[in-house]
Amino acid sequence: VGDLSAAELKGKKVFVRADLNVPLDDNQNITDDTRIRAAVPTIKYLISNGAKVILSSHLGRPKGVTPKFSLAPLVPRLTELIGVQVVKADDCIGPEVEKLVASLPDGGVLLLENVRFYKEEEKNDPGFAEKLASLADLYVNDAFGTAHRAHASTEGVTKYLKPSVAGFLLQKELDYLDGAVSNPKRPFAAIVGGSKVSSKIGVIESLLEKCDILLLGGGMIFTFYKAQGLSVGSSLVEEDKLDLATTLLAKAKAKGVSLLLPTDVVVADKFAPDANSKIVPSSAIPDGWMGLDIGPDSIKTFNDALETTKTVIWNGPMGVFEFEKFAAGTEAVAKKLAELSGKGVTTIIGGGDSVAAVEKVGVADVMSHISTGGGASLELLEGKILPGVDALDEAVASVSVTRS
Ligand code: 3PG
Repeated sequence: VGDLSAAELKGKKVFVRADLNVPLDDNQNITDDTRIRAAVPTIKYLISNGAKVILSSHLGRPKGVTPKFSLAPLVPRLTELIGVQVVKADDCIGPEVEKLVASLPDGGVLLLENVRFYKEEEKNDPGFAEKLASLADLYVNDAFGTAHRAHASTEGVTKYLKPSVAGFLLQKELDYLDGAVSNPKRPFAAIVGGSKVSSKIGVIESLLEKCDILLLGGGMIFTFYKAQGLSVGSSLVEEDKLDLATTLLAKAKAKGVSLLLPTDVVVADKFAPDANSKIVPSSAIPDGWMGLDIGPDSIKTFNDALETTKTVIWNGPMGVFEFEKFAAGTEAVAKKLAELSGKGVTTIIGGGDSVAAVEKVGVADVMSHISTGGGASLELLEGKILPGVDALDEAVASVSVTRS
């Protein structure tokens, strides 16, 4: 995709689509500002190059104009991080917004109101996309977390506003989740967890084509155990995915991928933080007990398997890490990846719960890359084309900034 650093920016109005979809508590306080911080490098770059920044995002899934989904609570934190007072518009299109854009100084930042207050956004309505486009001279997509959506501000707008280029965050996400994974330094290990195999089928199938080692954990392992004829007690099993599990195991074998399933598990007598628990071999899960984490032998086996790797990608927890008693497996993976990162291994955390896990362990800063995308990360790892990326121009090096 086109490179932002190749674009002329001085005095240009730049429409930046970011993913500022951050969690807010009942008092409208931001409880995790990761996505705001991730958007800052592109915004700062534009400011320091004299662009007028028109910043756009969605927040939540509002149905029409809904005050609790306003982007207003983001202004103080954005202002603090960017170092420039952010001006907030009450709408994202229309004459008032046009006036605010006209009065923006070079290096100024205008935050538009939630684009999803218009149903036309998610419908990718061409008229709405054209109105957004009419505000600016150049389009920058930095909203990786929303790049899997073909919406007006992520896809439609590129038809009316050229050049359309990737921001630094979007580029970094692509470099790691696509580049480093498709062309890995080997050995390349993938660690996939999560409760259901059904939500990770595409990711596992795609990674099986690329990785040398595949470590599986989380609730999904019990479907694999059952497919192998083991008894799983009352553990979570997707009965309709037993054949698929068998197929995936056979595929790994055929591809020469070393697929490791945990050899021991921590079982519990109920799904609760204060459940009674014990460690058992994966071949001996008692009736009435459910597996909620991988066991210590498995942690050791996984750590040994990761020892010589050069690239590791991780998506999905090893157990129910929200419950302290069943967090050891997930935390061990986070710690191992931190150690490997320190040795120069490329470590990629592919979104969602694994991000929460590395943050909980306090090792987020040492990873090579932590994705800001949930659904977008999964789709990219599955090898899907993301509409928000596909719509961008190939290159801007020779393109002058003009609106079509
Ligand atoms: C996310 O939180 O994954 C993105 O911001 C996309 O949000 P959506 O799933 O509501 O499109």
